[in-house]
Amino acid sequence: MEHEVRVLFVCLGNICRSPMAEAVMRKLIMEKGLENRIAVDSAGTGDWHIGREPHEGTRGVLDAHGISYAGMKARQVSPQDAADFHYIVCMDQKNLKDAREMMASAVGENTSGKVFTFMELLPDRGVVDVPDPYYEGNFDYVYELVNEGCHALLDKIKADIGLSV
Ligand code: 4NP
Repeated sequence: MEHEVRVLFVCLGNICRSPMAEAVMRKLIMEKGLENRIAVDSAGTGDWHIGREPHEGTRGVLDAHGISYAGMKARQVSPQDAADFHYIVCMDQKNLKDAREMMASAVGENTSGKVFTFMELLPDRGVVDVPDPYYEGNFDYVYELVNEGCHALLDKIKADIGLSV
């Protein structure tokens, strides 16, 4: 992988929350002209939806905001992800625990600092987990959190690599 910064969003099914974050983050990166420096992907801890496009609720909010999800297909977290990504951002605490376990066999990879929960990006919100809209149907609220968190993540990455664009 050629990009100097590589971000992976992780949720359970990789059809609702993490693809939404992937699409929003990619849009923000393109707006800053950073697409050659920062790569984004998403994956699920579960395997039920491998190969599927994002859920219709996620497609609905992304369409409403004019954000592309072209070509996105669900995949499962793999141990290789521990080596391939610098920021592994998990939508809830269960996703974080499961993703860590799934990547634990990645020999020599220390994932401790780079795996964190999405809501750690928004401490003032006082929310611990991005709620799962697959069960709760609250796609607009999830979009609000995702959009705010992606802005915070891009600011964090820019600070980490010394960028001021
Ligand atoms: P996601 O939502 O983790 O945000 O993609 C879910 C999607 C599918 C399932 C659960 C959560 N499922 O059980 O199939």
